[in-house]
Amino acid sequence: MNYLTKLALSIGILFIFVFVRSSNAGKRNFAIDYNKNVFVKDGEPFRYVSGSMHYFKVPTQLWRDRLQKMKYGGLNVIQTYIKWSSVERTPGVYDFSGNNNITRFINEAMEEGLLVIIRVGPFIDAEVDMGGLPPWLLASSPDIKLRTSDPKYLQPLDRWLNVLLPMLKPLMYNNGGPIIMVQPENEFGSYMTCSTSGDYKAYMRDTFLKLLGNDTVLFTTDGNLDSMLKCGKIPNVFSTVDFGAGGNASNSFGALRRTQPNGPLVNSEYYSGWLDHWGHPHSMVSSKEVCKTLDDMLSMNASVNIYMYHGGTNFGFDAGSNLDNGIYDPCPTSYDYDAPISEAGDLRTKFFDIKNVIKKHMKVIETEKTFSNETEKMHLPPIKMQYVASIFDLLPMPILNPTPLSFEQLNHSYGFMLYSTNLTFQPTDPIILSIPGLHDRAQIFIDHEYAGTLSQTHKITQVAVLAQKNSRIDILVENQGRYAYGPDINQRKGILSNVTLNDFPLTNGWKHYRIFEDWTWSNVLEKIDSMPRLNSVGSLHIPSFYVGSFVLPGNDTNFPLDSFLRVNGWWKGVAFLNGHNLGRYWPNVGPQVTLYAPSVYFLPYPQVNKIVLFELEHSPCNNLDGESCFIQFVDKHVINGPIPLHNTK
Ligand SMILES: *[C@@H]1O[C@H](CO)[C@@H](O)[C@H](O)[C@H]1NC(C)=O
Ligand SMILES: *[C@@H]1O[C@H](CO)[C@@H](O)[C@H](O)[C@H]1NC(C)=O
Ligand SMILES: *[C@@H]1O[C@H](CO)[C@@H](O)[C@H](O)[C@H]1NC(C)=O
Ligand SMILES: *[C@@H]1O[C@H](CO)[C@@H](O)[C@H](O)[C@H]1NC(C)=O
Ligand SMILES: *[C@@H]1O[C@H](CO)[C@@H](O)[C@H](O)[C@H]1NC(C)=O
Ligand SMILES: *[C@@H]1O[C@H](CO)[C@@H](O)[C@H](O)[C@H]1NC(C)=O
Ligand SMILES: *[C@@H]1O[C@H](CO)[C@@H](O)[C@H](O)[C@H]1NC(C)=O
Ligand SMILES: *[C@@H]1O[C@H](CO)[C@@H](O)[C@H](O)[C@H]1NC(C)=O
Ligand SMILES: *[C@@H]1O[C@H](CO)[C@@H](O)[C@H](O)[C@H]1NC(C)=O
Repeated sequence: MNYLTKLALSIGILFIFVFVRSSNAGKRNFAIDYNKNVFVKDGEPFRYVSGSMHYFKVPTQLWRDRLQKMKYGGLNVIQTYIKWSSVERTPGVYDFSGNNNITRFINEAMEEGLLVIIRVGPFIDAEVDMGGLPPWLLASSPDIKLRTSDPKYLQPLDRWLNVLLPMLKPLMYNNGGPIIMVQPENEFGSYMTCSTSGDYKAYMRDTFLKLLGNDTVLFTTDGNLDSMLKCGKIPNVFSTVDFGAGGNASNSFGALRRTQPNGPLVNSEYYSGWLDHWGHPHSMVSSKEVCKTLDDMLSMNASVNIYMYHGGTNFGFDAGSNLDNGIYDPCPTSYDYDAPISEAGDLRTKFFDIKNVIKKHMKVIETEKTFSNETEKMHLPPIKMQYVASIFDLLPMPILNPTPLSFEQLNHSYGFMLYSTNLTFQPTDPIILSIPGLHDRAQIFIDHEYAGTLSQTHKITQVAVLAQKNSRIDILVENQGRYAYGPDINQRKGILSNVTLNDFPLTNGWKHYRIFEDWTWSNVLEKIDSMPRLNSVGSLHIPSFYVGSFVLPGNDTNFPLDSFLRVNGWWKGVAFLNGHNLGRYWPNVGPQVTLYAPSVYFLPYPQVNKIVLFELEHSPCNNLDGESCFIQFVDKHVINGPIPLHNTK
């Protein structure tokens, strides 16, 4: 081809391209017809059954598998929250790589033929630390008012929305993408600032419309009480409701109708199961009950989002907490939720039952690809663990202050902080050590000997200790997860009061060791890797690191597969597989006993896999032959294990 032919061809192609683009753009439209009580997609009435899956609770490499299974389940839409706190870990620094690659997730959903509903929040609950808000917001000022027009909140929020929403704009349905609806805020009608938030709601609406386009379908979601729906309502924004199985769907939609007389009926969070707390029975909701109310709602022509359709995992320090009857109750690592797709991606009976209900009401496009109900899991031989170092061997540079500072005051968001001081006077024998402002759990060490544990959950804030003048007092405080819901999402972590001995405040200087500053702990994991492995243990009760190595069997070409980490004899801690934080384990408190270890975190044969436990309370490595010092990857997940006996008052 000569130059001119090429040029003519390219111009021609360009012309066709522009023509097709613009004519398509004209056709693609998603809107609400309030008079006919329906959504309208490309001029046709539209309704959806969608499912929630939060990209941040599933390893990136498994997104597509889960999305394909959601499609296979008969859904036409998926719904996800966006988690601000993991993208902007440091103010003004945005990381959209790996598990934060939101546009990749949305594009993969589109490639699988699914439409997408995005819930931006930025408050999202989701049982994650601080409901997804970045903890550094709390550092800026002691009285920042979250979820209001307080400039200390609004300024960083505005900066974030101006980064995020322009990325979503080209992915909006009307612009050729899969996103049909976007939700600002979340269950705002249940938050204490709702009635006094002033122009915060209007700010949210106007900013979303400005940055996404004024043809965007925005919506709010609120609980099924009139008061919540009325307060959470944003003028000129579409209202939806949330409620679970077993109730009376027409009553709940009736409450929605009283706030919004017209428009399609939507339940944005229809609970397929329920969340868990450490030490409380595993939540389960029967498939029959879920299907009954789903059938009722679909008979009313409602659109429904099933929350969760696939719950996933609170990897790392992501898990949040709730205030239950005045008790601080942290959530476990698993976010299985008794959902239709299990934490490890398996299809429960509920999955097929729900699909059958959907088929009764809507045309379901059967996918070409089908899935087995359960994938094969790895069951590996026990792995010997070896002691490497105690926490006292690995302390970073401390920060000094006369009195204890909170995590937030030291820009330390998650995990642990060690507080350390010296006793300048001779105490009585014994003496009461007290931390009234403890968030959340403290292990006390006097001269490096274990001296007791305090707990916000159990309202245990003091302990009798034996100490001497010049004794060193170390207090390892764990942030077990900020509140994910309710008025106290702004609660700081660490020691928020003085530490006293018989009411005498210790204000002679505290060293604060941030364990460990980098939230991935990659530096300390590297350091541990370079240290000798020992067969003896300093003290069983000192928080310590233990390491094990293993190679997957070479004869099985399917490996690596998913597996579950079982830590028999270990009490409480955090587990790392090849640098991936699998989350907190706490098997004797339950109900979660094993940790999900996804296939993609293992290294294939013949590479060496490394597992590190940071055991806080008690390792089983006590006998001299080391026979008890093991962990194991097994093929059965236990999230419904025994729990302790509770005082029922
Ligand atoms: C997000 O994923 C896409 C597709 O895999 C990739 O091209 C892009 O570089 C990723 N973004 C970041 C910030 O890593
Ligand atoms: C919506 O935005 C378009 C272009 O951005 C503008 O032409 C139009 O006037 C806007 N409509 C309203 C109601 O603001
Ligand atoms: C729901 O409650 C209404 C009255 O409030 C009643 O008429 C209706 O039968 C109930 N529906 C179901 C499914 O129980
Ligand atoms: C549901 O929609 C269909 C079709 O538009 C209509 O005929 C029917 O009356 C609607 N049912 C209810 C309960 O609104
Ligand atoms: C998968 O589970 C469903 C529901 O329990 C059942 O009907 C189906 O037979 C199972 N499929 C296989 C291949 O076991
Ligand atoms: C915390 O971060 C802020 C900036 O975000 C910085 O000004 C301050 O010095 C930091 N404080 C500590 C103790 O690191
Ligand atoms: C406590 O005393 C030891 C030994 O003198 C010293 O190394 C350490 O820094 C002191 N700790 C504090 C918090 O002052
Ligand atoms: C800690 O004790 C000091 C000295 O008694 C007192 O000035 C200070 O207010 C106390 N701090 C808190 C948070 O109670
Ligand atoms: C691989 O070898 C192990 C141990 O020899 C054996 O138990 C297992 O069945 C073998 N797996 C396959 C797929 O051959």
